[in-house]
Amino acid sequence: MKIALGADHGGYELKKRLEDFLPGLGHEVVNMGVDGPAPADYPDYAKKVALAVAKGKASRGIVVCGSGVGASVVANKIPGIRAGLCHDTYSARQCVEHDDVNVLCLGGRVVGPDLAFEIVKAWLASTFSKTQRHQRRLDKILAIEKEFLSSP
Ligand code: RB5
Repeated sequence: MKIALGADHGGYELKKRLEDFLPGLGHEVVNMGVDGPAPADYPDYAKKVALAVAKGKASRGIVVCGSGVGASVVANKIPGIRAGLCHDTYSARQCVEHDDVNVLCLGGRVVGPDLAFEIVKAWLASTFSKTQRHQRRLDKILAIEKEFLSSP
């Protein structure tokens, strides 16, 4: 799978670790920066990752900032993106199975690399459950998006 990966300075160290980790799982990293530890604004990088997914340049995206919160706020502004902040493997699995989350947000100051690897593995191994109730809820999300947002 092609994974768009981005971070600000708060997520830079974990992003570097993920850049090494993801190819080992058979995934291709589409690098959206940052590529150094200098202060950077998370909206710029979360937007890049979200647009790469929304425009089909990557199948899924991962954004790392200090807490993961800012990254999720930004990514969810992009039509077609369902971003989830997950710091446990249960949420990482369920957010794909139930909510079809296509961008994972992580806090580089919250989780260490080993837990982040487990979260990413669980998230990437999961697929959307097409059971009727999940599809109905997803359709409602898409309808809300259509009502309030324009296309990217
Ligand atoms: C940067 O200091 C920090 O505010 C940012 O990485 C992120 O945590 C925002 O949610």
